Amino acid sequence: MQMTKWLAIWTAGAFLTAPAYADGKKKAEMPAAGAEKPCDHAKMPCEHGGGKPCEGKGETGGCCPGCANKPRLAATTLAPTAGNKVKGSVTFAEAEDGKVTVTAELEGLNPGQQHAMHVHEFGDCSAADGASAGGHFNPEGHDHGLPTTEKRHAGDFGNVTADAAGKAKFSLVVDNLTVAKWNGVAGRSVIVHAKADDGGQPTGNAGGRVACGVIGVAKAPEAAKPTAPAPTAAPAQTK
Ligand code: CU
Ligand code: ZN
Repeated sequence: MQMTKWLAIWTAGAFLTAPAYADGKKKAEMPAAGAEKPCDHAKMPCEHGGGKPCEGKGETGGCCPGCANKPRLAATTLAPTAGNKVKGSVTFAEAEDGKVTVTAELEGLNPGQQHAMHVHEFGDCSAADGASAGGHFNPEGHDHGLPTTEKRHAGDFGNVTADAAGKAKFSLVVDNLTVAKWNGVAGRSVIVHAKADDGGQPTGNAGGRVACGVIGVAKAPEAAKPTAPAPTAAPAQTK
């Protein structure tokens, strides 16, 4: 009993004195939270997305821990929800300047009709009606909108337009999300809807969910690597 009491006092004392170490040199020696590798400014500046905070840590420029090593390509294969036949693929390619090109190829749509397409919050397409994907991906707390509206859900991509065969190709460049940094889409989902997104609140009156796909990190193509002039007479590259 007496020992327990002394232990309690000692423990409390340790906690009370702890703040004395939580500054200056001691703290500086600790790695920053989330740090992975030092940024390599020469290879890839960290000022992505027009100076938006990187990884949500409030760093608006310069070196963002781990940024240079984050994946910059993601993709999903869309499968029909129960009773539907819409399928296709969507890719997210993040450029050096931080802008993300979203491209999609879809089929099984209603010929000649517009269908809404959004990133939804959860990477879960397990429900038969796609409801498990949750609501629109909205990390900035904006109202719903079409891509012509700057302040909108980050997942608001507007509509794809089907041709006479029910197929659609879609391309949109956005600067309000990334693959795996701030507002990252990897691990979330893409939903295609039965109807067009009219931009109305809260989610564009787009009807049911006809296709769903979980977004995952994709392998970057070899051609996307920075290229140096290839040696012409040297032996095969060993790098
Ligand atoms: Cu949606
Ligand atoms: Zn929305």
